[in-house]
Amino acid sequence: MKILNFGSCNIDCVYSVENIVRPGETVPAFGLEHFAGGKGLNQSIALARAGAQVFHAGCIGSDGQMLRKLLQDSGVNLKYLKTVDRNTGQAVIQVDSHGENSILLYGGANFAVTRDYIDEVLADFSAGDFLLIQNEISQLPYLIEKAYAAGMRVIFNPSPFQQSLGDIDLNKISYLILNEIEAAGFSGLSAPEEFVIWSRLNYPNLRVILTLGKNGSIYFDGNARIEQSAFCVKAVDTTAAGDTFTGYFAAGITGGKSVERSLCLASCAAAIAVSKKGAAPSVPSINEVEKRLETMLPYECSGTEQKKRTVKAYFENHLSDASLGGLAAQLGYCPSYTGRWLKNNIGASFSELLLSARCRMLAAELEDTELCVSELIARTGYNNESFIRKAFYREYGCTPLEYRKRKQGEKYDK
Ligand code: RIB
Repeated sequence: MKILNFGSCNIDCVYSVENIVRPGETVPAFGLEHFAGGKGLNQSIALARAGAQVFHAGCIGSDGQMLRKLLQDSGVNLKYLKTVDRNTGQAVIQVDSHGENSILLYGGANFAVTRDYIDEVLADFSAGDFLLIQNEISQLPYLIEKAYAAGMRVIFNPSPFQQSLGDIDLNKISYLILNEIEAAGFSGLSAPEEFVIWSRLNYPNLRVILTLGKNGSIYFDGNARIEQSAFCVKAVDTTAAGDTFTGYFAAGITGGKSVERSLCLASCAAAIAVSKKGAAPSVPSINEVEKRLETMLPYECSGTEQKKRTVKAYFENHLSDASLGGLAAQLGYCPSYTGRWLKNNIGASFSELLLSARCRMLAAELEDTELCVSELIARTGYNNESFIRKAFYREYGCTPLEYRKRKQGEKYDK
Protein backbone atom coordinates (compact mmCIF):
# COMPACT_ATOMS: atom_id res chain seq x y z
CA MET A 1 0.00 0.00 0.00
CA LYS A 2 1.42 3.40 -1.04
CA ILE A 3 0.40 6.97 -0.11
CA LEU A 4 0.37 9.73 -2.72
CA ASN A 5 -0.35 13.34 -1.84
CA PHE A 6 -1.15 15.33 -4.98
CA GLY A 7 -1.18 18.88 -3.72
CA SER A 8 -0.07 22.48 -3.62
CA CYS A 9 3.24 24.02 -2.59
CA ASN A 10 3.37 27.70 -1.67
CA ILE A 11 5.77 30.28 -0.41
CA ASP A 12 3.99 31.89 2.54
CA CYS A 13 4.70 35.61 3.07
CA VAL A 14 3.57 36.10 6.64
CA TYR A 15 2.84 39.60 7.95
CA SER A 16 2.38 40.05 11.70
CA VAL A 17 -0.33 42.61 12.43
CA GLU A 18 -2.27 43.76 15.45
CA ASN A 19 -5.61 43.31 13.68
CA ILE A 20 -6.33 41.85 10.26
CA VAL A 21 -6.77 44.64 7.73
CA ARG A 22 -10.34 45.50 6.74
CA PRO A 23 -11.58 46.82 3.35
CA GLY A 24 -10.39 50.40 2.76
CA GLU A 25 -8.01 50.28 5.74
CA THR A 26 -4.21 50.58 5.81
CA VAL A 27 -2.48 49.05 8.82
CA PRO A 28 1.20 48.68 9.67
CA ALA A 29 2.76 45.20 9.80
CA PHE A 30 5.36 44.74 12.51
CA GLY A 31 7.01 41.70 10.96
CA LEU A 32 7.44 39.89 7.65
CA GLU A 33 8.71 36.32 7.39
CA HIS A 34 8.79 33.75 4.60
CA PHE A 35 7.88 30.13 5.29
CA ALA A 36 7.28 27.01 3.26
CA GLY A 37 3.56 26.36 2.99
CA GLY A 38 0.70 25.26 0.81
CA LYS A 39 -1.88 22.81 2.09
CA GLY A 40 -0.40 20.00 0.02
CA LEU A 41 3.16 20.56 1.18
CA ASN A 42 2.11 21.04 4.82
CA GLN A 43 0.13 17.79 4.78
CA SER A 44 2.97 15.82 3.16
CA ILE A 45 5.33 17.11 5.83
CA ALA A 46 2.83 16.17 8.53
CA LEU A 47 2.52 12.65 7.10
CA ALA A 48 6.30 12.28 6.95
CA ARG A 49 6.86 13.69 10.45
CA ALA A 50 4.15 11.35 11.72
CA GLY A 51 6.26 8.49 10.38
CA ALA A 52 4.50 7.69 7.09
CA GLN A 53 6.16 7.15 3.73
CA VAL A 54 4.55 9.62 1.35
CA PHE A 55 5.03 10.55 -2.30
CA HIS A 56 4.30 14.20 -3.06
CA ALA A 57 3.15 15.18 -6.56
CA GLY A 58 2.54 18.77 -7.59
CA CYS A 59 4.23 21.70 -9.31
CA ILE A 60 6.61 24.43 -8.22
CA GLY A 61 8.46 27.12 -10.18
CA SER A 62 12.23 27.54 -10.29
CA ASP A 63 11.80 30.04 -7.45
CA GLY A 64 10.46 27.26 -5.20
CA GLN A 65 13.62 25.25 -4.64
CA MET A 66 13.56 25.92 -0.89
CA LEU A 67 10.24 24.05 -0.81
CA ARG A 68 11.79 21.08 -2.57
CA LYS A 69 14.63 21.07 -0.06
CA LEU A 70 12.33 21.20 2.96
CA LEU A 71 10.17 18.36 1.63
CA GLN A 72 13.30 16.32 0.96
CA ASP A 73 14.80 17.04 4.38
CA SER A 74 11.50 15.99 5.99
CA GLY A 75 11.65 12.59 4.28
CA VAL A 76 8.97 13.11 1.62
CA ASN A 77 9.55 11.15 -1.60
CA LEU A 78 9.81 13.70 -4.46
CA LYS A 79 9.92 11.35 -7.44
CA TYR A 80 6.79 13.04 -8.88
CA LEU A 81 7.35 16.70 -7.90
CA LYS A 82 7.65 18.80 -11.05
CA THR A 83 9.35 22.15 -11.69
CA VAL A 84 7.42 24.16 -14.29
CA ASP A 85 7.87 27.48 -16.06
CA ARG A 86 5.64 29.50 -13.72
CA ASN A 87 6.02 31.29 -10.42
CA THR A 88 5.63 29.09 -7.38
CA GLY A 89 2.27 29.48 -5.65
CA GLN A 90 2.25 32.19 -3.03
CA ALA A 91 0.16 32.96 0.03
CA VAL A 92 0.01 36.41 1.59
CA ILE A 93 -0.88 35.73 5.20
CA GLN A 94 -1.76 38.17 7.96
CA VAL A 95 -1.44 36.80 11.49
CA ASP A 96 -3.02 38.92 14.22
CA SER A 97 -2.16 39.27 17.89
CA HIS A 98 -4.47 36.33 18.78
CA GLY A 99 -2.80 33.99 16.28
CA GLU A 100 -5.76 34.14 13.88
CA ASN A 101 -4.98 34.46 10.20
CA SER A 102 -6.34 35.58 6.88
CA ILE A 103 -4.89 34.24 3.63
CA LEU A 104 -4.72 35.60 0.09
CA LEU A 105 -3.75 32.86 -2.32
CA TYR A 106 -2.00 33.07 -5.69
CA GLY A 107 -2.15 29.64 -7.33
CA GLY A 108 0.82 30.05 -9.75
CA ALA A 109 2.50 26.73 -10.53
CA ASN A 110 -0.16 24.81 -8.59
CA PHE A 111 -2.43 25.42 -11.56
CA ALA A 112 0.01 23.83 -13.98
CA VAL A 113 -1.26 20.36 -13.03
CA THR A 114 -2.55 18.83 -16.28
CA ARG A 115 -4.47 15.66 -17.12
CA ASP A 116 -1.38 14.18 -18.77
CA TYR A 117 0.69 14.76 -15.64
CA ILE A 118 -2.03 13.16 -13.49
CA ASP A 119 -2.20 10.12 -15.81
CA GLU A 120 1.57 9.80 -15.70
CA VAL A 121 1.74 9.83 -11.89
CA LEU A 122 -1.31 7.65 -11.24
CA ALA A 123 0.05 5.00 -13.60
CA ASP A 124 2.45 4.07 -10.78
CA PHE A 125 -0.35 3.54 -8.22
CA SER A 126 -2.99 0.88 -7.96
CA ALA A 127 -6.07 -0.37 -6.13
CA GLY A 128 -5.81 -0.05 -2.36
CA ASP A 129 -3.26 2.79 -2.45
CA PHE A 130 -4.24 6.07 -0.81
CA LEU A 131 -4.52 9.44 -2.55
CA LEU A 132 -4.64 12.55 -0.37
CA ILE A 133 -5.92 15.78 -1.94
CA GLN A 134 -6.85 19.33 -1.01
CA ASN A 135 -8.35 22.11 -3.17
CA GLU A 136 -5.37 24.17 -4.26
CA ILE A 137 -4.42 22.57 -7.59
CA SER A 138 -5.95 22.43 -11.07
CA GLN A 139 -7.77 19.37 -12.48
CA LEU A 140 -9.07 18.15 -9.11
CA PRO A 141 -12.31 16.54 -10.43
CA TYR A 142 -10.30 14.66 -13.05
CA LEU A 143 -7.82 13.50 -10.42
CA ILE A 144 -10.63 12.14 -8.25
CA GLU A 145 -12.28 10.34 -11.17
CA LYS A 146 -9.03 8.70 -12.26
CA ALA A 147 -8.00 7.66 -8.75
CA TYR A 148 -11.45 6.25 -8.01
CA ALA A 149 -11.48 4.35 -11.31
CA ALA A 150 -8.09 2.87 -10.36
CA GLY A 151 -9.49 1.67 -7.03
CA MET A 152 -7.42 4.10 -4.95
CA ARG A 153 -8.80 5.21 -1.61
CA VAL A 154 -9.25 8.98 -1.71
CA ILE A 155 -8.77 11.12 1.41
CA PHE A 156 -10.22 14.53 0.61
CA ASN A 157 -9.61 17.73 2.54
CA PRO A 158 -11.85 20.20 0.64
CA SER A 159 -9.91 23.26 1.67
CA PRO A 160 -10.18 26.07 0.78
CA PHE A 161 -13.86 25.52 0.00
CA GLN A 162 -15.34 26.75 -3.28
CA GLN A 163 -18.89 26.28 -4.55
CA SER A 164 -17.59 24.22 -7.49
CA LEU A 165 -16.62 21.46 -5.02
CA GLY A 166 -20.34 20.80 -4.68
CA ASP A 167 -20.13 19.06 -8.09
CA ILE A 168 -17.75 16.43 -6.76
CA ASP A 169 -19.35 13.05 -6.15
CA LEU A 170 -18.55 12.33 -2.51
CA ASN A 171 -19.44 8.67 -3.12
CA LYS A 172 -15.99 8.44 -4.68
CA ILE A 173 -14.29 9.62 -1.50
CA SER A 174 -13.24 7.26 1.30
CA TYR A 175 -12.41 9.83 3.98
CA LEU A 176 -13.62 13.42 4.04
CA ILE A 177 -11.69 15.65 6.46
CA LEU A 178 -13.25 19.08 6.80
CA ASN A 179 -14.08 21.96 9.12
CA GLU A 180 -17.43 23.55 9.94
CA ILE A 181 -17.22 26.13 7.13
CA GLU A 182 -16.50 23.46 4.55
CA ALA A 183 -19.27 21.25 5.98
CA ALA A 184 -21.72 24.13 5.61
CA GLY A 185 -20.44 24.68 2.06
CA PHE A 186 -21.38 21.13 1.05
CA SER A 187 -24.64 20.81 2.96
CA GLY A 188 -25.93 24.37 3.34
CA LEU A 189 -26.31 23.57 7.06
CA SER A 190 -24.42 25.54 9.68
CA ALA A 191 -24.99 23.37 12.78
CA PRO A 192 -22.44 20.53 12.93
CA GLU A 193 -25.05 17.99 14.04
CA GLU A 194 -27.26 18.82 11.10
CA PHE A 195 -24.29 18.16 8.86
CA VAL A 196 -23.81 14.76 10.52
CA ILE A 197 -27.41 13.84 9.70
CA TRP A 198 -27.12 15.24 6.16
CA SER A 199 -23.96 13.31 5.50
CA ARG A 200 -25.26 10.02 6.88
CA LEU A 201 -28.43 10.33 4.82
CA ASN A 202 -26.74 11.21 1.56
CA TYR A 203 -23.42 9.36 1.86
CA PRO A 204 -23.88 6.45 4.28
CA ASN A 205 -20.53 4.90 3.32
CA LEU A 206 -18.47 8.05 3.73
CA ARG A 207 -16.11 8.28 6.70
CA VAL A 208 -16.11 11.87 7.86
CA ILE A 209 -13.80 13.71 10.20
CA LEU A 210 -15.32 17.04 11.18
CA THR A 211 -12.95 19.42 12.95
CA LEU A 212 -14.50 21.98 15.28
CA GLY A 213 -11.53 24.10 16.39
CA LYS A 214 -11.43 24.42 20.17
CA ASN A 215 -14.46 22.13 20.36
CA GLY A 216 -12.44 19.18 19.14
CA SER A 217 -13.31 16.84 16.31
CA ILE A 218 -15.80 14.13 15.46
CA TYR A 219 -15.30 11.03 13.37
CA PHE A 220 -18.46 9.45 12.04
CA ASP A 221 -19.60 7.04 9.40
CA GLY A 222 -22.92 5.31 8.75
CA ASN A 223 -22.82 3.60 12.17
CA ALA A 224 -20.01 4.77 14.40
CA ARG A 225 -19.30 8.09 16.05
CA ILE A 226 -16.10 8.97 17.91
CA GLU A 227 -15.37 12.32 19.56
CA GLN A 228 -11.99 13.83 20.35
CA SER A 229 -11.33 16.93 22.44
CA ALA A 230 -8.98 19.64 21.27
CA PHE A 231 -5.87 20.19 23.39
CA CYS A 232 -5.22 23.40 25.26
CA VAL A 233 -2.32 25.56 24.08
CA LYS A 234 -1.55 29.25 23.80
CA ALA A 235 -2.29 30.18 20.17
CA VAL A 236 0.61 31.84 18.37
CA ASP A 237 -0.31 31.12 14.75
CA THR A 238 -3.18 28.91 13.62
CA THR A 239 -1.79 28.58 10.06
CA ALA A 240 -1.47 24.92 9.02
CA ALA A 241 -3.16 23.55 12.14
CA GLY A 242 -5.79 21.93 9.90
CA ASP A 243 -3.08 20.59 7.59
CA THR A 244 -1.20 19.12 10.52
CA PHE A 245 -4.40 17.44 11.72
CA THR A 246 -5.14 16.05 8.26
CA GLY A 247 -1.60 14.76 7.70
CA TYR A 248 -1.44 13.12 11.12
CA PHE A 249 -4.88 11.56 10.82
CA ALA A 250 -4.03 10.25 7.34
CA ALA A 251 -0.76 8.83 8.65
CA GLY A 252 -2.65 7.13 11.48
CA ILE A 253 -5.32 5.37 9.49
CA THR A 254 -3.10 4.48 6.56
CA GLY A 255 -0.63 3.07 9.06
CA GLY A 256 -3.25 0.80 10.62
CA LYS A 257 -3.88 2.81 13.81
CA SER A 258 -7.39 2.92 15.24
CA VAL A 259 -9.58 5.92 14.50
CA GLU A 260 -9.42 6.87 18.22
CA ARG A 261 -5.62 6.88 18.28
CA SER A 262 -5.37 8.64 14.91
CA LEU A 263 -7.74 11.38 16.10
CA CYS A 264 -5.87 11.80 19.35
CA LEU A 265 -2.45 12.12 17.69
CA ALA A 266 -3.86 14.45 15.01
CA SER A 267 -5.48 16.64 17.62
CA CYS A 268 -2.34 16.89 19.72
CA ALA A 269 -0.14 17.57 16.67
CA ALA A 270 -2.52 20.33 15.51
CA ALA A 271 -2.43 21.94 18.96
CA ILE A 272 1.37 21.97 18.89
CA ALA A 273 1.28 23.54 15.40
CA VAL A 274 -0.98 26.31 16.73
CA SER A 275 1.58 27.12 19.41
CA LYS A 276 4.33 27.77 16.83
CA LYS A 277 4.92 30.28 14.05
CA GLY A 278 4.64 29.46 10.34
CA ALA A 279 3.02 26.69 8.32
CA ALA A 280 5.38 23.79 7.55
CA PRO A 281 7.90 24.72 10.29
CA SER A 282 5.16 24.40 12.91
CA VAL A 283 4.39 20.73 12.11
CA PRO A 284 5.78 18.62 14.98
CA SER A 285 7.52 15.26 14.80
CA ILE A 286 5.82 12.12 16.12
CA ASN A 287 8.31 12.03 19.02
CA GLU A 288 7.29 15.51 20.10
CA VAL A 289 3.60 14.63 19.79
CA GLU A 290 3.93 11.45 21.87
CA LYS A 291 5.91 13.27 24.52
CA ARG A 292 3.52 16.24 24.75
CA LEU A 293 0.52 13.91 24.88
CA GLU A 294 1.64 12.79 28.33
CA THR A 295 1.12 16.26 29.79
CA MET A 296 -1.23 18.15 27.48
CA LEU A 297 -4.71 18.84 28.80
CA PRO A 298 -7.88 18.84 26.73
CA TYR A 299 -9.00 22.36 25.89
CA GLU A 300 -11.02 23.58 28.85
CA CYS A 301 -13.72 25.01 26.63
CA SER A 302 -14.08 21.91 24.56
CA GLY A 303 -16.10 18.75 24.34
CA THR A 304 -18.62 17.19 26.60
CA GLU A 305 -17.71 18.99 29.84
CA GLN A 306 -18.23 22.41 28.31
CA LYS A 307 -21.51 21.28 26.76
CA LYS A 308 -22.70 20.03 30.16
CA ARG A 309 -21.93 23.48 31.59
CA THR A 310 -23.89 25.06 28.74
CA VAL A 311 -26.88 22.84 29.57
CA LYS A 312 -26.73 23.76 33.25
CA ALA A 313 -26.49 27.48 32.52
CA TYR A 314 -29.31 27.24 29.99
CA PHE A 315 -31.74 25.77 32.52
CA GLU A 316 -30.71 28.26 35.17
CA ASN A 317 -31.34 31.19 32.82
CA HIS A 318 -34.48 29.91 31.10
CA LEU A 319 -36.55 28.39 33.88
CA SER A 320 -39.75 29.93 32.56
CA ASP A 321 -39.16 29.78 28.80
CA ALA A 322 -36.90 26.74 28.29
CA SER A 323 -37.47 24.81 25.08
CA LEU A 324 -35.68 21.93 23.41
CA GLY A 325 -35.14 24.12 20.34
CA GLY A 326 -33.64 26.89 22.46
CA LEU A 327 -31.21 24.53 24.17
CA ALA A 328 -30.34 22.89 20.82
CA ALA A 329 -29.43 26.29 19.38
CA GLN A 330 -27.06 26.94 22.30
CA LEU A 331 -25.36 23.59 21.86
CA GLY A 332 -25.14 23.88 18.06
CA TYR A 333 -27.11 20.65 17.67
CA CYS A 334 -30.46 19.92 16.07
CA PRO A 335 -33.36 19.31 18.55
CA SER A 336 -33.66 15.56 17.97
CA TYR A 337 -29.94 15.00 18.48
CA THR A 338 -30.02 17.26 21.56
CA GLY A 339 -32.55 14.90 23.15
CA ARG A 340 -30.30 11.91 22.50
CA TRP A 341 -27.18 13.81 23.61
CA LEU A 342 -28.82 14.66 26.96
CA LYS A 343 -29.79 11.03 27.53
CA ASN A 344 -26.33 9.73 26.61
CA ASN A 345 -24.25 12.32 28.43
CA ILE A 346 -26.36 13.45 31.36
CA GLY A 347 -28.64 10.45 31.68
CA ALA A 348 -31.88 12.43 31.64
CA SER A 349 -34.36 13.81 29.12
CA PHE A 350 -34.96 17.50 28.45
CA SER A 351 -38.18 17.53 30.50
CA GLU A 352 -36.55 15.65 33.40
CA LEU A 353 -33.72 18.19 33.50
CA LEU A 354 -36.14 21.10 33.33
CA LEU A 355 -38.21 19.60 36.11
CA SER A 356 -35.22 19.14 38.34
CA ALA A 357 -34.00 22.72 37.61
CA ARG A 358 -37.45 23.99 38.60
CA CYS A 359 -37.39 21.90 41.78
CA ARG A 360 -34.04 23.52 42.62
CA MET A 361 -35.61 26.93 42.09
CA LEU A 362 -38.52 25.97 44.36
CA ALA A 363 -36.13 24.75 47.04
CA ALA A 364 -34.16 28.03 46.91
CA GLU A 365 -37.34 30.07 47.24
CA LEU A 366 -38.69 27.93 50.08
CA GLU A 367 -35.48 28.71 51.89
CA ASP A 368 -35.20 32.40 51.02
CA THR A 369 -38.81 33.63 51.11
CA GLU A 370 -41.82 33.46 53.40
CA LEU A 371 -44.29 33.02 50.51
CA CYS A 372 -46.74 30.15 50.89
CA VAL A 373 -45.88 26.82 49.30
CA SER A 374 -48.79 26.82 46.82
CA GLU A 375 -47.81 30.21 45.50
CA LEU A 376 -44.20 29.14 45.03
CA ILE A 377 -45.35 25.98 43.27
CA ALA A 378 -47.48 28.09 40.92
CA ARG A 379 -44.35 30.08 40.04
CA THR A 380 -42.59 26.97 38.75
CA GLY A 381 -44.77 27.07 35.64
CA TYR A 382 -46.49 23.68 36.12
CA ASN A 383 -50.29 23.72 36.38
CA ASN A 384 -50.49 20.38 38.11
CA GLU A 385 -49.54 20.99 41.74
CA SER A 386 -49.40 17.34 42.76
CA PHE A 387 -47.03 16.63 39.84
CA ILE A 388 -44.44 19.13 41.11
CA ARG A 389 -44.95 18.01 44.71
CA LYS A 390 -44.13 14.42 43.69
CA ALA A 391 -41.12 15.53 41.67
CA PHE A 392 -39.90 17.60 44.61
CA TYR A 393 -40.24 14.61 46.92
CA ARG A 394 -38.19 12.49 44.50
CA GLU A 395 -35.42 15.12 44.39
CA TYR A 396 -35.26 16.04 48.11
CA GLY A 397 -36.86 13.09 49.91
CA CYS A 398 -39.40 15.35 51.69
CA THR A 399 -42.37 17.61 50.94
CA PRO A 400 -41.80 21.32 50.19
CA LEU A 401 -43.18 22.26 53.64
CA GLU A 402 -40.90 19.75 55.42
CA TYR A 403 -37.99 21.10 53.39
CA ARG A 404 -38.72 24.68 54.51
CA LYS A 405 -39.02 23.62 58.15
CA ARG A 406 -35.78 21.67 57.97
CA LYS A 407 -33.91 24.63 56.43
CA GLN A 408 -35.39 27.03 58.97
CA GLY A 409 -34.33 24.65 61.75
CA GLU A 410 -30.80 24.55 60.36
CA LYS A 411 -30.66 28.37 60.36
CA TYR A 412 -32.00 28.48 63.92
CA ASP A 413 -29.39 25.92 65.10
CA LYS A 414 -26.63 28.12 63.73
O1 RIB B 1 -3.41 25.79 5.44
C1 RIB B 1 -2.39 26.75 5.47
C2 RIB B 1 -1.86 27.01 4.10
O2 RIB B 1 -2.88 27.58 3.31
C3 RIB B 1 -0.72 27.98 4.05
O3 RIB B 1 0.52 27.38 4.19
C4 RIB B 1 -0.93 28.68 2.72
O4 RIB B 1 0.07 28.44 1.80
C5 RIB B 1 -2.29 28.23 2.22
O5 RIB B 1 -2.19 27.31 1.23
